[in-house]
Amino acid sequence: MKKILIAGPASQILGVRIAQELGIDVINTETKLFPDGENYLRINIEDETLIAEKEVIIVQSTGPSSNGNQNSRLTELFMMIDSVKRMGAKSIVVIVPYLAYARQDKVFRPGESSFANVVFRFINSLGIDEFYTVDIHAQQILKECTCKTVNIDSMKLLADYIKSQGAKDIIVVSPDKGAIERSETFAKHFGDDVPVDVFEKQRDVKTGEIKMSGKLSIKNKDVVIADDIIATGGTMANAIKIAKENGANKIYAVATHALLLGQAKYRILKAGADEIIGTDSIDNEACKVSLSKIIADYLK
Ligand code: R5P
Repeated sequence: MKKILIAGPASQILGVRIAQELGIDVINTETKLFPDGENYLRINIEDETLIAEKEVIIVQSTGPSSNGNQNSRLTELFMMIDSVKRMGAKSIVVIVPYLAYARQDKVFRPGESSFANVVFRFINSLGIDEFYTVDIHAQQILKECTCKTVNIDSMKLLADYIKSQGAKDIIVVSPDKGAIERSETFAKHFGDDVPVDVFEKQRDVKTGEIKMSGKLSIKNKDVVIADDIIATGGTMANAIKIAKENGANKIYAVATHALLLGQAKYRILKAGADEIIGTDSIDNEACKVSLSKIIADYLK
């Protein structure tokens, strides 16, 4: 079956790179906001038979950016899926490197919605065949999806990049208990004996304020602080501050999805990070590592 890739508005570079890895045609989209704020999306083709009977791969991350918030990104994703379905795609493979609302997978306070589940109910209702994401915040939410799902691990790629920057005598720091498992796996990519230290993070669920503490032996070490997401940068900045106070040498602030909202870059660099490292899950200046090859390898 012939494959064709649709590069969504949030993943134009990544979409083209994946298509190049696969040696298949790529089509982009045309988008706008109507005056009332509604999204418009059209797949940029004049001949709808180009889609009929094809295996269609849709690539669209759903993080916020200067030209679209996550609600727009999700709406555009749903529109792309619906369009290719209507045009007679034989199968639909959806790649969402960063899945919006994945952190809202639990009810933390009375009266809340577990909206991550709702996102999957929407996706299920559109009738896709396969769903791929990268380092999703909590893997169990994928059980909500009724088709085949794959959570791609970007840790080796990120570790290879950090090694290529000359990092040595490394310690990996987990900025909260929830990230320990991920940090331990991450550390193994730097060598068998690379230690992992854990900071205690407490976030006030009402105000979002973070308190962090840690007891470390990181003096003169290169510290890799690894998280799945950097949003406001509060978690990273707190962890960096503690690492700095404990005599760290170089500090790398690493996340698969470096959203870098508002003052995040300022906070992280001012706290003392030498570099902010992310993937092209989010198309911004922290993107140092491309996911294109690893995603393409899954699709071959
Ligand atoms: C939370 O559990 C996540 O893994 C990240 O630690 C969090 O999303 C980072 O958010 P922020 O950058 O706003 O502190």
